[in-house]
Amino acid sequence: MSEIAITRTQQPKAPPPDESLAFGDVFSDHMFQMNYEVGKGWHDPRIVPYGPFMLDPACCVLHYGQGIFDGLKAFRGQDGHIRLFRLGDHARRLNRSAHYLCIPELDPAMVEESIRALIEVDRNWVPRKAGTSMYIRPTVIATETFLGVHPSHSYLYYVIAGPVGAYYKEGMNPVRILASDQHVRAVKGGLGAAKTMANYAASLYGAEEAQKAGYTQVLWLDALEHKYLDEVGTMNIMVKIGDEVVTPPLGGAILAGITRDSVLTLLRGWGMKVSERAVSIDEVLDAAKAGRLEMWGTGTAAVISPVGELGFKGERHLINDGKTGALTQKLYDAIVGIQYGTEPDPHGWARLLGN
Ligand code: COI
Repeated sequence: MSEIAITRTQQPKAPPPDESLAFGDVFSDHMFQMNYEVGKGWHDPRIVPYGPFMLDPACCVLHYGQGIFDGLKAFRGQDGHIRLFRLGDHARRLNRSAHYLCIPELDPAMVEESIRALIEVDRNWVPRKAGTSMYIRPTVIATETFLGVHPSHSYLYYVIAGPVGAYYKEGMNPVRILASDQHVRAVKGGLGAAKTMANYAASLYGAEEAQKAGYTQVLWLDALEHKYLDEVGTMNIMVKIGDEVVTPPLGGAILAGITRDSVLTLLRGWGMKVSERAVSIDEVLDAAKAGRLEMWGTGTAAVISPVGELGFKGERHLINDGKTGALTQKLYDAIVGIQYGTEPDPHGWARLLGN
């Protein structure tokens, strides 16, 4: 990548107090941008003041959703160092999402460099309080002005970031989820494995219905039989049934979550029995009734989200007496410990930002 041109804002803002942070509503002073055109490739990497940009009303992404994004975090440890969690894995996943959406290759090294450079410029925005972090959103949108349907000939890659607190208002407390046999998020052969706008658009209607019924999120079942667990809300889903931890396998409609991978790696390292296999809603309900179930979601935004109640076909099922399970808590503590640098990092997941 050619050198990143940096234009600093003339009106720097004061970051809000850490105590006030929610999720995704505050953005730092700068953003990264880079353009793509057929014949020219990716060019003009730059950091500029954060702000709106002009798009032609006919540009592809606004009509056909040809766009992708990723989400990762930077943490400020008690030692004062800033750590980017699994930066390389997020950069590679963005490139895989690009592939599914017919977006030109994004060199993961270029993606890493763009994120590092932006967080370096806005390092004073990385919050300090426990439980807070800087959420980073690399995004690619199709920008060609054209109403026919074909992969765009031009793109904008940009990165924005902002300080965040907990994703769910419940924080690291059990949420109530509703398994839906009416709505589906994604189908095998479709876009479920890509981090693309369409999957989130598809989740809105079902999520609204679940919230009206008093639940926090939807437990998505597979689109063909409405029988097997896919994801929960915007997260991967995991269950512990007896002594086996089970999560749906990749290769179908689900996203290859980075936190999912971190959890599986930790569990295997702890010598636990871990299976990536199809798990049906009936198997999960039987385990709940027998008191043998622990259930949690994994994702970058919330890290680990315990499930305390599962609704299905008009019935409510308590999970682990509605409390956070011991393994769920242990996983949360282990990952957060690595992110803030209070625990050893044997897998090299946390990369220090230069001082
Ligand atoms: C995540 O769990 O990290 C997400 O995908 C949430 C994001 C859509 C805000």
